[in-house]
Amino acid sequence: MSEKPIEKMDPIAVDPDFYAMNSNYHTEPQDFASETTSLASTIAKGRLENGRRYQAIKDDDYWGPSDEQQFEAFEIGHMVFLVLDHNEPNPLFSRSYRQFAKDIGTGQGSWAIDVADLYPTATVRGVDMFPPPVTWMPPNCVFEVDDILREWTWREPFDFIHMRLMYGAFDPAGWEKVYKQAYDALEPGGWIEQMELDVRVYSDDGSLKPSHELYGWGDMFIGCSERAGDRSLRTHELMRSQIEKAGFVDVHEVKYKIPLGPWAKDKLLKEAGHLQFAHWNTALEGWAMWLLTHHGIPEPWSKEEVQLFLAKIRTELKNPHIHAYEPANRVWARKPTLEEQKAKDAKIKDAKIKAEPSP
Ligand SMILES: C[S@@+](CC[C@H](N)C(=O)[O-])C[C@H]1O[C@@H](n2cnc3c(N)ncnc32)[C@H](O)[C@@H]1O
Repeated sequence: MSEKPIEKMDPIAVDPDFYAMNSNYHTEPQDFASETTSLASTIAKGRLENGRRYQAIKDDDYWGPSDEQQFEAFEIGHMVFLVLDHNEPNPLFSRSYRQFAKDIGTGQGSWAIDVADLYPTATVRGVDMFPPPVTWMPPNCVFEVDDILREWTWREPFDFIHMRLMYGAFDPAGWEKVYKQAYDALEPGGWIEQMELDVRVYSDDGSLKPSHELYGWGDMFIGCSERAGDRSLRTHELMRSQIEKAGFVDVHEVKYKIPLGPWAKDKLLKEAGHLQFAHWNTALEGWAMWLLTHHGIPEPWSKEEVQLFLAKIRTELKNPHIHAYEPANRVWARKPTLEEQKAKDAKIKDAKIKAEPSP
């Protein structure tokens, strides 16, 4: 992890002893039947399409499925980020939660559950359009099914708001609304944190070549997302400026390179890469299916075309000679304290008085 731009970060050293990828993780589509959801409602049943289940809380084309296979992928993704942030200074590990934390788009709910476990005196709320498939949660963790774009009605001021992998969830107006609502809902001095992946894949040593399917992977999906109602997957590029624009101060940003597979020499990156390989294998179809069957070019793809393409991607992911990685970044920032806000208001007032023409 580094504060430098990705192109200035050190190349990831390759482990010379790494020859082959033997995965113990699932590489085949899973059984999607729900075992954990007991809510007999349309919301819990979702909407089925191409063998995947999507949210049904609103008439909205969010690209990602909410089904058991994708929940399993979220869980592995959660582990990737835990490994990457091991001992790192970010709010999850270095700050103590005083009262109320909130996880927007909680998915499987793993972040909310872990934070509630770590901070038993805090109340942690996880919100998603689809009910998280949890059978147990700590008593201080609450899950709610809601559309985060609706007006927020939570009464308590939060001291921490978290988002992760919300890429492509909203159009620019939606993002503006989410950051504004987050700002308003935080108490003075409270923090917001967001972690996002760049869906494009790179290599430092040229081992990923234009002839590989993985080479154009990210740009293809960014194109699909931008045709899908301007809900770009470039969230990682835009979030910092949008968070600043919403009024947050003390803005921090760190960047990561996440290897796709255990090819890195560094122990922590090897571990993260192993998990990221499993994350990809489990998540691939969910990432690709809706975007390609609705917004693929030159024409929307068929389910079979998507699956054929994903088979090629899986083969490349297992190729030990491709040293591919995906960048990610984390931004965290603070709502001004009351004193900072008063000083800012006084400055604005002064500037206005000076700008007014004297009688
Ligand atoms: C890619 S998943 C990430 C889940 C989780 N944050 C994680 O890191 O594992 C994005 C989640 O955001 C949820 N989501 C998307 N749009 C939403 C909205 N308008 N309101 C609430 N949740 C939303 C989706 O249902 C999905 O569970």
